[in-house]
Amino acid sequence: MMPPIKGLCLLAIVFFSFAIGEGKILPDIRLPKSIVPEHYHVGIVPNIHENNNAIEGFVHLDFFVQSPTDRIVMHAVNLTLNEDSVTVNPLPSKTMEMMRENDVSKTSSNAISEKSKVLKVLRPISYDIEKEFVIIQLGSKLEENRRYRVSFNYSGILASNLKGFYGSEYLDKKSDTKRWLGVTQFEPTSARLAFPCLDEPAMKATFTISIGRRSNYTSLSNMPLVKTEPMSNNEGWFWDLYEKSVPMSTYLVACLVSEFAFRQARSVIRIADGDRSTQNVTEIRIWARSDAIEQVDRAVQVTPDMLEFLEQYFQVPFPLPKVDLVGLPDFSSGAMENWGLITYRETTLLVNPKSAAVRDEMNVERVIAHELAHQWFGNLVTMDWWNDLWLNEGFATYVQRLVLDNVSPKYQALDFLSVMDADGLESSHAISVDVAHPTQITEIFDAISYTKGAAIIRMMNDFLGEATFREGVKNYLNEKKYKNARQDELWQFLSEQAHRDSVLPLSLDVKTIMDTWTLQMGYPVVTIQRNYTDGYAYIQQKRFLRGVKPTVAKEDKSLSLTNFVEEKSSQLPNYRWWVPVSLTDSIAKNFSQSNTRPAIWLTPNELSATMSVDKNENSWVIANILATGYYRVNYDERNWKLLDLQLKTDHQVIHPINRAYLIDDSFALAAAEILPYTTAFNLIEYLPHENHHVPWSSAIKALNYIGRMFSYTKNHGRYKAFMRSLVVPLYIRLGTEFQPDDSPLTKLFRISMITQACSHEFRPCVRKAQLLFDKWMDSSDPINDNKIIPDLRSSTYCTAIKYGGQLEWEFAWRMSFNMTSAHDRDVILSALGCSRDPWILIRYLSFVLDPKSGIRKQDGRRVMSAVASNPGGRRIAFQFIMKHFDEIFGNPVRVLQMLSSTTSSLNTEEELVKIQNLMVSNGVLLRKAQTSANNIQSVVSANIKWMDNNSEILNQWFTSKGF
Ligand code: BES
Ligand code: ZN
Repeated sequence: MMPPIKGLCLLAIVFFSFAIGEGKILPDIRLPKSIVPEHYHVGIVPNIHENNNAIEGFVHLDFFVQSPTDRIVMHAVNLTLNEDSVTVNPLPSKTMEMMRENDVSKTSSNAISEKSKVLKVLRPISYDIEKEFVIIQLGSKLEENRRYRVSFNYSGILASNLKGFYGSEYLDKKSDTKRWLGVTQFEPTSARLAFPCLDEPAMKATFTISIGRRSNYTSLSNMPLVKTEPMSNNEGWFWDLYEKSVPMSTYLVACLVSEFAFRQARSVIRIADGDRSTQNVTEIRIWARSDAIEQVDRAVQVTPDMLEFLEQYFQVPFPLPKVDLVGLPDFSSGAMENWGLITYRETTLLVNPKSAAVRDEMNVERVIAHELAHQWFGNLVTMDWWNDLWLNEGFATYVQRLVLDNVSPKYQALDFLSVMDADGLESSHAISVDVAHPTQITEIFDAISYTKGAAIIRMMNDFLGEATFREGVKNYLNEKKYKNARQDELWQFLSEQAHRDSVLPLSLDVKTIMDTWTLQMGYPVVTIQRNYTDGYAYIQQKRFLRGVKPTVAKEDKSLSLTNFVEEKSSQLPNYRWWVPVSLTDSIAKNFSQSNTRPAIWLTPNELSATMSVDKNENSWVIANILATGYYRVNYDERNWKLLDLQLKTDHQVIHPINRAYLIDDSFALAAAEILPYTTAFNLIEYLPHENHHVPWSSAIKALNYIGRMFSYTKNHGRYKAFMRSLVVPLYIRLGTEFQPDDSPLTKLFRISMITQACSHEFRPCVRKAQLLFDKWMDSSDPINDNKIIPDLRSSTYCTAIKYGGQLEWEFAWRMSFNMTSAHDRDVILSALGCSRDPWILIRYLSFVLDPKSGIRKQDGRRVMSAVASNPGGRRIAFQFIMKHFDEIFGNPVRVLQMLSSTTSSLNTEEELVKIQNLMVSNGVLLRKAQTSANNIQSVVSANIKWMDNNSEILNQWFTSKGF
């Protein structure tokens, strides 16, 4: 640790010990286990117009009593039960009711079987604000093993912060009128904001939803509509009653009230068990505001294919008769997998055929695939509790790639690379993590759950073999459908299949292997040290770690933030993994999928192994074929040289994905001081001959890190000159014109070269961008007449705004309000952060806090990160966020996401002190978001350390190369 950082430790101790002190007394927020919900009939009437944002509703909940209790505890936030309306009645036993019940519409009316047994409800009804409970206290005990119905009316308010049942408005361009809509976003813990319920994922029940709406609106819910009835005593209002759902978790319930239009997609038709009479159908509709309805075609096209693929791949049919996909003008996350009613941001569902860039189309397909994957992984089988969130998100992220590779194979991508940087810091966390408070739950919707989760599932697929994996997963889905699962249960199904198929010895199970990946954070670096005389390679694992821990010394466990993670992983040998190592060499050159099976395992007890490889001094070996293993690889010096030589003579011998990983690994190892930077830089000297987007994108990511670190140093000019020397030859060779038969990858590659050339100040690129932008500004009808190719808009706008002034900026700002395509608007919002005028950036940031500015709530983060990723805006953004910390939306996780986007390039001790001060003074707000808070400091500390160790060396390297 460098001496100046030591001084900071004191501060760190203040914050973290405080945080931990709070952490220890976080209340137990779980529901008591005495009652289990079985069926809800929920009626909700949202008032979605301005000046009236009331929600009125009723709930009839049928539940089963597991252990005697005199309290009914449900979740409710900002809801008030109408005290007089609360009743609790016994229900007939299930068998009696089953004999009587054969019609869903009767479920709410046949409740009171024996009036005499009505239970006394004590008043007042009480609320536990901290735990988000409403508690109905009864005069007598509910009996074990019996069923009851609790009924009540309640009222609440339509939210405006994009969660619960929230209202939102948009402008209908055709009629130039304001329109309103009401929609739900419940995951993870916001169903309780819309109706009182047992809001935990394992509390599955069936739902009958009724939605009240005015005549000119349409409503939608998870299931198909059964009937519509006028509301008695409420002129102009109607009840829409929906079919009873399958058993599901509360966070998947969804409602929408809107004036949206839809297009019907091809229905998915299946013939159950070859019996034609039981043919069943899933209807698919894609919804959007009517101005944007032309943009649903892509979704109309791919959704049925994707749904069919998933059914066939896992051999489990989609159980609902319909699924609606809806694009919403204001939406907090990217998309949400509500069962049968999937909601999206406009940018993740809609594609404007006239102005869509390749990247946008790819993203739309990716998000559609992801949410459809959840219909099985998440909806049908749900994690038991949020600590296993990765079972939902990691699986969906893995399966989304399967879907894309099969339905839309033209887009090839490196999905899993990004997480390794964050997971290589000591502030990371295990995939499986204890969470209690809603804030902590929100916090783990992060790259670890999604990307690392997906990466280790892929690793498992490859060491078990696809057939075994698929069969095991199929059994898991079938056994667990409509129920909940823990990760150990998934391991169980996979082990059984692996043993049946003799893929693993009986003495080894999947849990033993996978616990090392899910219960401890981080990952190993596998070092291959060859002996060129005897032909053996010594292969060893060691934890990969970068940067320094910003907190206290490790020995002092009581103050360690990651306490519980460490305790959990202490059941395992510390930071040792079961590592499947696959391998090829320059003779075999086998980069096929089948060669991803492990040639050798490293285990926690055998950290190293030797194996025989080619003895030839001139032939290389390469490990981690197609990068299906979640680890990095280091080689001995000679092998690195041989790989280097291969790249320089004929790089195509090595698969593009492995080329990308050689680059990524070498730069990451260099940043972690395991490998000299010269090795990494030598390796990329071949890049001018590289025509594949994937290796280039990993090089650009690694090099841009150096650029970000250098941006406030005198050496930045050298870095830019170096970057130009790399990209300009490609820029010239590829040109700036797009050909009709360019593949998506070629397009992405060209876009990336143009972006790099312009952002590193290659004059012809800059001039061309300015010219194009000027022409657009001069157009007499700029809204409809924009000749800049959609794929180049992002880089062209950014360059023109960067080198332009107030005029360019204000023109783009005006245009941002006139885009019917949400992608176009996003592109402009990002480019507006490229200005070099401080006052323009300050004004732009101030718009985030001004409700009248026209910046939507969903876009605040985009504006912040646009300004922060501009080197000239970085400090402005940081100052802004420090000044307005508590004004930026209440949710600490969102605030920290913004903070992290503004601090990820900071690299001085003064800045770290400021961050720590900020956290100390906002300790109360942040105390439940410790992981994110810790991470932010860890990233900056790692940057500081990197600067200390590398900035001089790299500067000398650039100088020696003549830059
Ligand atoms: N289940 C999530 C939505 C979500 C995210 C709910 C965070 C609550 C908190 C959904 O399936 C999802 O993962 N959406 C992603 C997009 C996806 C393609 C990675 C998102 O919102 O970014
Ligand atoms: Zn998801």
